[in-house]
Amino acid sequence: MSATARKTALNAEDIRALKGGTPIVSLTAYTTPMAQAMDEHCDFVLVGDSVGMALHGLPSTLGVTMEMMILHGQAVMRGLTKALMVMDMPFGSYEEGPAQAFRNAARLMAETGAGAVKLEGGVEMADTIRFLVARGIPVMAHIGLTPQSVNTLGGYKVQGRDSAAAGLFADARAVADAGAFAVVLEKLPASLADQLTADIAIPTIGIGASAGCDGQVLVLDDMLGFFTAFKPKFVKRYADLGHQAEQAIAAYAAEVRARDFPAAEHLFADQAPKKKDTK
Ligand code: KIV
Repeated sequence: MSATARKTALNAEDIRALKGGTPIVSLTAYTTPMAQAMDEHCDFVLVGDSVGMALHGLPSTLGVTMEMMILHGQAVMRGLTKALMVMDMPFGSYEEGPAQAFRNAARLMAETGAGAVKLEGGVEMADTIRFLVARGIPVMAHIGLTPQSVNTLGGYKVQGRDSAAAGLFADARAVADAGAFAVVLEKLPASLADQLTADIAIPTIGIGASAGCDGQVLVLDDMLGFFTAFKPKFVKRYADLGHQAEQAIAAYAAEVRARDFPAAEHLFADQAPKKKDTK
């Protein structure tokens, strides 16, 4: 089945309609098995450009390409039936202006079957968001700490403190007025996130923001304990799978070296038994 022949049950307008209700649940996904695991539990799944750091060992999200996003988007889409799939637009694929953004957003949607795209930026991206939405592309905005701008923000710092709060109000209002169906708020003071949530008519999705946001998103590999290079304060580890994987690999290596694996139950006899043992 081609990517565009698939579509999931929830769409961007369903997510918009969840403003002020039961909190919206979201995680990032990059592979089919993980998408399958979260489909039932999430309202939307984000194919984040965090894939570059989580799965490809890149030092930041800046090296992520359209091709990487499309490959992972196609894999995630194969695992979803219910949750909306949102594709991150990678660094350099939309900042030149609305026409470039439309070309690449349309490609992400056409080649993966995604129901929406996400891009980083507030006031400066409002015209681009308006252009995309008017041409049939649902847009999720992302303001506060925008990791693609790490080099101009001076690092992965908390945004919007003190007098900088006014800029965040301007950003949130600009993306909402431009037609974004939701906005990610990353790494802000909790009280500011609460005020922004009350101030705008579209859902706010917090990451390092506040439990008062309309929803939450986390990077899957952070919350499962697969990505351990560093742990932002806003990440809660719900599992320690990186450590468990390392222990399982060590056990396998020890058994191979001791010739304990494979054992009799993993081997095939000369004669085919009566019942099938081909699995
Ligand atoms: O790329 C990503 O995973 C994201 C989330 C941090 C929101 O943008």
